[in-house]
Amino acid sequence: MRKIIIAGNWKMNMSNDNALKLSKAVAAGLGDISSRGRIAVMCPPFTALTSVAPSLSGAKGLYLGAQNIFYEDKGAYTGEISADMLISCGCTFCIIGHSERRKYFGETDETVNKKVKKSLEKSLTPIICVGETLEERESSRAFNVVKKQVMGALNGMSKEDIAKVVIAYEPVWAIGTGKTASPEQAQSMHAYIREQLAGLSDASVSQAVPILYGGSMNPANVKALIECPDIDGGLIGGASLKAEDFLKLVHFDD
Ligand code: 13P
Repeated sequence: MRKIIIAGNWKMNMSNDNALKLSKAVAAGLGDISSRGRIAVMCPPFTALTSVAPSLSGAKGLYLGAQNIFYEDKGAYTGEISADMLISCGCTFCIIGHSERRKYFGETDETVNKKVKKSLEKSLTPIICVGETLEERESSRAFNVVKKQVMGALNGMSKEDIAKVVIAYEPVWAIGTGKTASPEQAQSMHAYIREQLAGLSDASVSQAVPILYGGSMNPANVKALIECPDIDGGLIGGASLKAEDFLKLVHFDD
């Protein structure tokens, strides 16, 4: 049985004061999610990681993640953050290859692959983002684009390592636009990603890897999406910035 993962990507939002308030409110409202096979992850900006970390103690099933990582251990890389630094802030997850990083910061399948390998070497769980643009979907290239991103991200990895990753399918046209992929559209891409994972490893590994959906997920559409057989949770932007909405997503079937 795969766990359900509800991860909040706060993007470039939240002062440290507001981050602390939000994380406390999330921790207070979670209840015993771990006994329901469910986990929640908060991914604040780097600057707020240490403000948010204390809110995790005592909140079972709540984890801290970063929004990016660098693939070198240390040295002259101005502005970058290493895996060890993230771990020292309390992180256990790390988002890698978000479409905003691919679009604005030159992230490629090769850098994604290096970052995934580094995070696994350091025992951080990578949440690897893949997804097509509107133009790619409209020209019937969505499946090929996503396949290339999955292959690129996992290039050269053993099946034991592939078993440790989380994939997030985030169609770029659904991010921050209010346009969600329909459950049918999302399910067919998730099933396709699982097929690719099976090809790279084996059936049992591909069945074990959680595949999250991201893109305008909200309390109104979450249930229909997560009830699809290959959708194992969500990576949430806008709706993760309000404790009430994020908690509704975590408790989507209450
Ligand atoms: P929204 O939920 O705001 O569409 O963002 C999704 C996302 O990019 C999460 O990583």
